[in-house]
Amino acid sequence: MKVGVLISGSGTNLQALIDHSLQRDSCAKIALVISNVPGVQGLTRAETAGIPTKVIKHKEFKSRLDFDMAVHGALEEAGVELVCLAGFMRIVTGEFVRKWHGRLLNIHPSLLPSFKGMHAHQLVLEAGVCISGCTVHFVEEEVDAGAIVTQEAVPVLYGDTVETLQERVKCAEHRAYPRAMELLASGRIKLNDDNKVQWMW
Ligand code: GRF
Repeated sequence: MKVGVLISGSGTNLQALIDHSLQRDSCAKIALVISNVPGVQGLTRAETAGIPTKVIKHKEFKSRLDFDMAVHGALEEAGVELVCLAGFMRIVTGEFVRKWHGRLLNIHPSLLPSFKGMHAHQLVLEAGVCISGCTVHFVEEEVDAGAIVTQEAVPVLYGDTVETLQERVKCAEHRAYPRAMELLASGRIKLNDDNKVQWMW
């Protein structure tokens, strides 16, 4: 199944998806990487792997919808069937979400539904919880909502900073995201009509 990955930055999750997709038994083939920010490391990672890239700058569009439709058009043109948001720092519109219903995944650096939003690690440290982690979920219009595909937990350690916690969670992300992509690409899961994850076995 052809996969499109949307990024805005360093692309370590993109790298994990690329590495996984190159395994012989993977059903996922990364066909296009789109960044809304030029010059980011994620684009270099894709180019190194021989994957086509596109920069679509959100600032050049009049509205969020115009930007999203340009992204959608590029994904369709490349024959993409499944989209992974991997550190894509734009909130997608409802229209985009509906066009990719059941075929749009995101990764969030906390155990959802706790600690939604931009500053998950900071919120985790402020709350004093002892366990954090990451969540891969189907995207819905509401931010960081949507059916959960997989999660991975990591400990929060005494003396952790946002940086040390982020690093530990990212290691978990790099296992969880390829696993979720593979589950969907291989048809082992799907999003059913009630917006719940259905296992196909
Ligand atoms: C990750 O922490 C991910 O959970 C969040 O954005 C970050 C992207 O990191 N959505 P990277 O660009 O994949 O390194």
